[in-house]
Amino acid sequence: MDYNELWDTLTGFRKARILHTALIWRFFNYVGEGATTEEIAHQAKTNQRGTERVLNALVGMGILKKFGEKYTHTELSETHLVENGNSSFAGVLHSVQSWESWGQLPQIVKSGELPERKRVFDDSERFRTFILAMHEYQKHRASEFVQKLPVQSGDAILDCGGGPGTYANAFAREYPDSNVTLLDLPDAIAIAKDLNSENLPVQYISGDFFKEDLGGPYDFVFLSNIIHSHSPARNRTLFRRIADVMESGGHFVIRDRFLDESQTEPLGAVIFGIHMLVNNLEGGTYIVREVQEWLQSTGFTNVEYRTIDDESEIVIAERAD
Ligand SMILES: C[S@@+](CC[C@H](N)C(=O)[O-])C[C@H]1O[C@@H](n2cnc3c(N)ncnc32)[C@H](O)[C@@H]1O
Repeated sequence: MDYNELWDTLTGFRKARILHTALIWRFFNYVGEGATTEEIAHQAKTNQRGTERVLNALVGMGILKKFGEKYTHTELSETHLVENGNSSFAGVLHSVQSWESWGQLPQIVKSGELPERKRVFDDSERFRTFILAMHEYQKHRASEFVQKLPVQSGDAILDCGGGPGTYANAFAREYPDSNVTLLDLPDAIAIAKDLNSENLPVQYISGDFFKEDLGGPYDFVFLSNIIHSHSPARNRTLFRRIADVMESGGHFVIRDRFLDESQTEPLGAVIFGIHMLVNNLEGGTYIVREVQEWLQSTGFTNVEYRTIDDESEIVIAERAD
């Protein structure tokens, strides 16, 4: 890193916060075919002076355009930053909502404790945004992704902690002979049912994967973006519960971000580990070797790491006899 990059990093939060402010007050909703500061501030019920500063900065950053007194959309802002109930906006809003927890990083590093605050699981609106954001991140690649997994005709598949059902639906669509079950917390299951607009044959189990009967037996279990939320001990408990409902020789696929042995790369996974630290303290990103050890001690064998595409890495294991 050079000195200029150091400064960009030091002050990078400013641009993020300008964008967050515009999103929090929904400025992009009010730009329409073109609107003045006065019109936008009136609709957003915000102070005109502050609103103007933010709008001008957004133009400078290339997110909006300005003609005379009127602000207009760029293709980017119109597509991604206008709220219209879609999951694309939820994906964006989910990032904005991380500001509070990230702001507490210095305190968390000092004390090793999470300050008192409402968590995503305690707030139904934020939980919905979170689940829809998961759908947004995965929906474009889920079908192609599941085609690359070793699913066999007739497999009983469990998507454990499958959230919005993006992958469960993709399994049901791409492997019509399979028997797909999605397990998640009740509020997530309600959203998943809504998102299954194709009426794909997915069965639902509402409950806590640490307590609920997981059903089965299954030939294939998919666990995507779950292990980063839990401690090694809790992950081992979950793996053991999954092993108990699997047929021997069945495949267990864990999708997540993984660290290299130095724990300093890839940077996305390192930073995501901090995201977990500030959000639930217990979780983090793990080295493949650690996951391999948990698997081997909970009834799995033939553990293998694979990259599926630019965004997807998996660890795949077989249920031992
Ligand atoms: C990061 S999301 C991943 C969703 C999905 N697997 C994906 O990759 O898009 C984590 C999911 O785990 C679910 N979850 C968290 N704790 C759970 C628990 N104890 N029992 C069941 N589901 C849980 C959440 O509701 C959420 O849907």
